[in-house]
Amino acid sequence: MVSKKMHVALNKQIGYEFSSAYLYLSMSAHFHAVNLPGFAHWMNEQYKEEMGHGMKFFSYIYERGGKVELEAIDKPPSSFKNPLDIFKQVLDHEKKVSGTINALYELALKESDYPSQVMLHWFIAEQVEEEKAASDIIEQLKMIGDAPAGLMMLDRQLAARS
Ligand SMILES: [Fe+2]
Ligand SMILES: [Fe+2]
Repeated sequence: MVSKKMHVALNKQIGYEFSSAYLYLSMSAHFHAVNLPGFAHWMNEQYKEEMGHGMKFFSYIYERGGKVELEAIDKPPSSFKNPLDIFKQVLDHEKKVSGTINALYELALKESDYPSQVMLHWFIAEQVEEEKAASDIIEQLKMIGDAPAGLMMLDRQLAARS
């Protein structure tokens, strides 16, 4: 059984992961609307990943004898600017999520909760990858600037994400 504090924090994290999923799904809808199907696909994959993250916490809570209590999910933004701006938003968002994962880890250390520390190692490594993926796309978008041909090429590249 996890401590009461850890139980509350893990339940909250499910909400953060599901709101990340919702944000990326909204970005996917936006990219469909502006005819960038590759970007839309990338965001849809990201949405699925975040749902998976939420479900990892969901399962972990049960594995430790806890009870899942789902939080409300806020309406995500529905209007967005250009792709560069959107990926900057993704990076900022992922940095915030990294902060929540790090805070969970600090709590696990404080409570000498070794199983939670081990479980969180995966998420700490995952956040490094997530931040890098967003940063890499930001760099590509900066290089592309206002060139439609470059944007179309990147759209094709992002369409290949599985
Ligand atoms: Fe996540
Ligand atoms: Fe993420």
